Amino acid sequence: MSARILDGKAVAASIKEEIKAQVEALEGRKPGLAVIIVGENPASQVYVRNKVQSAEYVGMLSRKIELPEDVSEQRLLDEIAALNADGAIDGVLVQLPLPKHIDADKVLNAIDPAKDVDGFHPVNVSNLWLGRPCTIPCTPKGIMRLISESGINPAGKNAVVVGRSNIVGKPVAKLLLDANATVTIAHSRTPDLAAVTRGADILVVAVGKVAVVTGDMVKPGAVVIDVGMNRNAAGKLCGDVEFSTAAEVASAITPVPGGVGPMTIAMLMQNTLESYLSRQRTTV
Ligand code: GUN
Repeated sequence: MSARILDGKAVAASIKEEIKAQVEALEGRKPGLAVIIVGENPASQVYVRNKVQSAEYVGMLSRKIELPEDVSEQRLLDEIAALNADGAIDGVLVQLPLPKHIDADKVLNAIDPAKDVDGFHPVNVSNLWLGRPCTIPCTPKGIMRLISESGINPAGKNAVVVGRSNIVGKPVAKLLLDANATVTIAHSRTPDLAAVTRGADILVVAVGKVAVVTGDMVKPGAVVIDVGMNRNAAGKLCGDVEFSTAAEVASAITPVPGGVGPMTIAMLMQNTLESYLSRQRTTV
């Protein structure tokens, strides 16, 4: 193996220490994060537990709202309305995916954009694409922070993003564009994926499927960012990239677990602190 491991866990830990110190220094009310989870999706439960525990670790108020799988859309909207009106809460996050009977767009629209710490509200999404101040979604923000903390500058590089989700693919492509990379977005209908990925100096893979990218699809010396969180046939946690073969070719690669995942949580803490600070400025 030749690639440098991009240790998201370590970078995230140091960011969380900085946020913890900033929160400790705040006088009066501490930032508050509310996380809503609907149903029993095991992966979502793990993510939500990590988010709540991190909020507590950095000294924030955290509130976890667990709703049953068959909860009505209206009940969920009512919970969001109550959190929007709650002065102790600066961040409102609804864990996705939601059950099929609930309209996720309607739910995301209902979150106060000033408390939208995921950056999924249409106001924040449109401001991101217009280059205006906004809340940047946690995973894309974490990827960019990990890249920059690792001394990698996307300017002038070919960046390929595999996957076009609203949560990762599309926003990370915009952030790479803002960082002056030449950006290509590949997806499930891309006819010759390997031909595209082989042109990438920076390759971000966010598909949600095991071994979408293997070592032969990676340009020698590329930086590989694996956003996947899958279980393989043996039940082991793994990403979208075949780590063993890709690490032979890449110059740097994120592991799964311990790469992008912890950065997402650290950026959620940062977004919550930023929401708190801007709300303090506008509400006093
Ligand atoms: N599901 C997968 N990733 C995310 C995320 O970043 N935020 C929320 N709310 N749900 C998710």
